[in-house]
Amino acid sequence: MAKKTGTGKKGPPPKAAGRINIGIGEKDRGAIAGGLSKLLADTYTLYLTTHNFHWNVTGPMFNTLHTMFMAQYTELWNAVDPIAERIRSLGHPAPGSYAQYGALSSLPDAPVVPPKALAMVRILVDGHEAVARTARGIFPLVDEAGDEPTADLLTQRLTVHEQAAWMLRSLLEE
Ligand SMILES: [Fe+2]
Repeated sequence: MAKKTGTGKKGPPPKAAGRINIGIGEKDRGAIAGGLSKLLADTYTLYLTTHNFHWNVTGPMFNTLHTMFMAQYTELWNAVDPIAERIRSLGHPAPGSYAQYGALSSLPDAPVVPPKALAMVRILVDGHEAVARTARGIFPLVDEAGDEPTADLLTQRLTVHEQAAWMLRSLLEE
């Protein structure tokens, strides 16, 4: 048998573009990315509602709420990027359209007719609580997969949403 020469020798296999080997299996990455997509949709929807209320709030609490809503929508706007980029790091596309957000979000769209000031506050309390539930619901998957960066991100988001819900809720108390 003829000895193999270099002529027909195969080179190293082409590098598999897009192949991900970070120690979290494909199935787990998919499930976590799916959960984070819901969190992204919730966060974006709450961002838009909060900005809407910043524009449309009226009444004697105008200054307080206009300013408070600005701080909150700015924080939410800054939060969507790390959530989306974590989805990308797990190898999945990040949803980024109103149609996708409408389908994925657990929050309703902002009302077309601007509500009274305290009704806005109530809607935002419910919104922050809903986002917290979505974030909390992803934890079992993340724990099981040993996905610490996502756990860290979820912990940060939970802290923000639970604190915002408390502050807003306090405005509704006598
Ligand atoms: Fe403004």
